[in-house]
Amino acid sequence: MTRTVLITGASSGIGRETALRFQREGWNVAATMRSPEKETELDRLPGVVCPALDVTRPETITAAIDQTLARFGHIDAVVNNAGYGLIGPFETFSEDQIERQFQTNVFGLMAVTRAVLPHLRAQRDGVIVNVASFAGRSIFPYYSVYHASKWAVEGFSDSLQYELKPYGVRVKIIEPGIVKTEFWGRSTDRANATGITAYDEGQPVLDLIDEAAGVIATLPADVAEAIWRATNDQSSRQRYVIGVDAHLTLMARKVLSDGMYRTLMTTLFGRRPVATFRKLTADLKRRAS
Ligand SMILES: NC(=O)c1ccc[n+]([C@@H]2O[C@H](COP(=O)([O-])OP(=O)(O)OC[C@H]3O[C@@H](n4cnc5c(N)ncnc54)[C@H](OP(=O)(O)O)[C@@H]3O)[C@@H](O)[C@H]2O)c1
Repeated sequence: MTRTVLITGASSGIGRETALRFQREGWNVAATMRSPEKETELDRLPGVVCPALDVTRPETITAAIDQTLARFGHIDAVVNNAGYGLIGPFETFSEDQIERQFQTNVFGLMAVTRAVLPHLRAQRDGVIVNVASFAGRSIFPYYSVYHASKWAVEGFSDSLQYELKPYGVRVKIIEPGIVKTEFWGRSTDRANATGITAYDEGQPVLDLIDEAAGVIATLPADVAEAIWRATNDQSSRQRYVIGVDAHLTLMARKVLSDGMYRTLMTTLFGRRPVATFRKLTADLKRRAS
């Protein structure tokens, strides 16, 4: 029997590469997205449908699952991938911005999980793959609300796996480091909604993270590969870390005390490292051109 995966946020980046990966392996793919009318590639591939699904709109979740079941008859794997980053000093965000971050990254992921669970449980087989981040177990400056959302995904997934195991449903957590996707462009909310300027001196830290993202990013296809492996991994392994940056950061978070980790971050994102990093990346770019 051909298996079926439902993926959220398949319009670009990791979600899109994941849809292509599963399609190449002969799976049926429900590559869900907010605006399927804009899609020009995935919906033309055999075995792929692109239902409309906005994780913040419950009626679209139900409709997308119904459409997938009507077309393929069953769902074997769900990849909760849809998400974006709210980045900047906490005090500069509005309530709306903070709520929207959680509505998408946390409550949206829970809503999709909740909607598909009766089906997976009845089937007594299935896997839920949650795209968290290395930001779900580590900490960077000026990422407070994004971190909170991804730490929530980690805690949720970790606990959920106990209650689903008796029903044959596995829960996997994907922890990419920096990945070259729209996340660093249109999928980041950096708006200073309150107009508070007290934190403007932190801007170089944000710039540094952006510049680092441009240099050390992993490709979304590598994350798709990890999602593919996690989906098919019958072992009890729960976390899949992708990228050298993610491995190093999570190792540091594990072995260092809170104080030592804080010192490391403060040093890394201090004025001198920012200047050195800028010079280094400028040199690299000059040599590459
Ligand atoms: N890129 C990184 O460095 C990185 C690192 C670690 C983890 N992640 C995580 O990876 C996931 C995918 O991000 P990406 O890097 O692939 O970025 P991306 O290319 O911007 O993809 C984000 C996807 O999420 C969708 N989305 C956003 N809000 C949605 C909503 N309310 N309902 C349904 N879909 C929604 C977007 O759809 P639209 O096209 O409609 O906007 C888009 O398809 C996110 O959860 C992100 O937090 C990314």
